Amino acid sequence: PFYKSLTGLSQLEEKIRSHFGLKQVIVVAGDADSSAQTKKELGKAGSQVLGRVLRPNDVVAVTGGSTIAQVANQLTAPQPLKTNLFVPARGGLGESLDYQANTLASTMAKRTGANYRLLHVPDHLGEEAFASIMQEPNIREVVDVIRSARIVVHGIGEAAVMARRRKLDRREIDAMTQDGALAEAFGFYFDKNGSVVHKMQTVGLRLEDIVNTEVVIGIAGGKSKGEAIAAIMRFGHDDVLVTDEAAAQQIVAMI
Ligand code: G3H
Repeated sequence: PFYKSLTGLSQLEEKIRSHFGLKQVIVVAGDADSSAQTKKELGKAGSQVLGRVLRPNDVVAVTGGSTIAQVANQLTAPQPLKTNLFVPARGGLGESLDYQANTLASTMAKRTGANYRLLHVPDHLGEEAFASIMQEPNIREVVDVIRSARIVVHGIGEAAVMARRRKLDRREIDAMTQDGALAEAFGFYFDKNGSVVHKMQTVGLRLEDIVNTEVVIGIAGGKSKGEAIAAIMRFGHDDVLVTDEAAAQQIVAMI
């Protein structure tokens, strides 16, 4: 039965990989919705993928969330990564400190002997505040480093769940729902076809930065996230997906 289930997982991996044209898909056993162990395994697999693609002098931009926190807490390096830099992909999004991108970027750097830079700015700003903050040389410099990342590591969430977690106001949520928002990643909301619903200004990675990033690694699992993950894969700029069996089965049933 052990071999049988391994074969089952690699079949899921290959179906998803070839359907979305990804370079690699890793499916870990179980369902992260109900198993803390599975969520941990997602983080472990994610940290191994990152370890394999990382080269000297790389800048790595990471998003927040409880799944990427599992990556951060398990990331190791055989030797100190003295030339690498971890940065948050976005400004603050009003989540708990443990799940903030700033926290996870600094954790990853500390665990691997790399460097980090932080971005102490809320992600959503009015036009005027945005324009003046972007003129601050210190902020501008970090933003330019973030936008130069060769690798992006990101979580994926359900739009409604993330909107609630980030305390978007009712009007914004209603407008998004009407536009078919279903998935969230890198702070943007997407419909089921992977089209962005509501473009917005951001101090961190813009969509065009993600489109141009060399290595984009998505890490998300749990049956409840199946549709959201598929939507982000349709957006089409991920290279590697790390997910779990329960989400993978949902995805495969849809394709
Ligand atoms: O972008 C999506 C969220 O950061 C995912 O958060 O890993 O806690 O579900 P989560």
